[in-house]
Amino acid sequence: MSHVHVSRVNRGWVLRSHDHVSPDEFDAAISTIRSSGGGAVRWFVSHPTDVEKSCAKRHHLTPDVPLLLMRCDLPLDARHRVPDGFSTRPFRPGLDNDEWLEVNARAFAGHPEQGDWNHVVLAERLAAPWFDPHGFLIHEVEGRIAGFCWTQVHDDAGVHHHHDADGHHHDHTGVQHHDHAHDEHRPSEPAGEIYVIGVDPAHHGKGLGRALTIAGFAHLSGKGLRHGMLYVAGDNAPAIGLYTSLGMRVAHQDDVFSGVVA
Ligand SMILES: CC(C)(COP(=O)(O)OP(=O)(O)OC[C@H]1O[C@@H](n2cnc3c(N)ncnc32)[C@H](O)[C@@H]1OP(=O)(O)O)[C@@H](O)C(=O)NCCC(=O)NCCS
Repeated sequence: MSHVHVSRVNRGWVLRSHDHVSPDEFDAAISTIRSSGGGAVRWFVSHPTDVEKSCAKRHHLTPDVPLLLMRCDLPLDARHRVPDGFSTRPFRPGLDNDEWLEVNARAFAGHPEQGDWNHVVLAERLAAPWFDPHGFLIHEVEGRIAGFCWTQVHDDAGVHHHHDADGHHHDHTGVQHHDHAHDEHRPSEPAGEIYVIGVDPAHHGKGLGRALTIAGFAHLSGKGLRHGMLYVAGDNAPAIGLYTSLGMRVAHQDDVFSGVVA
């Protein structure tokens, strides 16, 4: 079995590897992508060796922003306080889809992999066996969605499978998902994840992101989970600042190489 796992994610491809990959294995993965039509590729690799770096280079994949796994113990030592004028409710599948897609697109305008989610992608996630509307928190103002925090429970001790109904992995820029077979900080218990979180840019800086993060982890801790986690791009200073201020710590980092396979 190859040490590099290939999956199709929305319109592109994701490669993941945990154990070190040989040039032959990497070339084979790239060939698979090429023979399936090519496209945008991102490779997530933990502590890449010089051999792995040169594999990336040979296929014109260039270093991209690393992906951080952040963790915390639950419950958080923080109180949920919704800013004045905002209220909290669960996501309503069907009713909220259009408006949520608009807010998501605005919040992730600089991150096409998350911001480009469309009705098909959202419907797939809402139909997934793990989906729970009570774990998908909306903060609204005057009946409009201002921000959201979508949580997910992992019953498998933090090892992510994240297969969609069709067997594909989830992926998006804000919070990416993949197996961390060598996550040395992996707890031996189920973990509660903040899967996607975003605030409409019109409402940034009002304390909604903090309120949503706290609400999401409070929901997870209410389900008995003692470990919280999420993935965040290494250059997302507002998000990392928020999570750090709530006591989250970086547990793991994946380097990312990205490019296009013809
Ligand atoms: C990250 C995000 C959710 C924060 O939401 P927000 O409502 O603006 O955040 P808050 O007003 O609650 O601010 C909370 C904390 O975030 C941090 N923060 C917010 N904006 C920041 C910025 N521009 N630079 C640095 N830190 C920032 C600070 O620690 C702040 O604490 P403070 O209020 O004590 O200063 C929001 O910026 C967002 O939606 N970003 C786009 C989507 C995204 O990146 N989601 C996270 C993916 S993992």
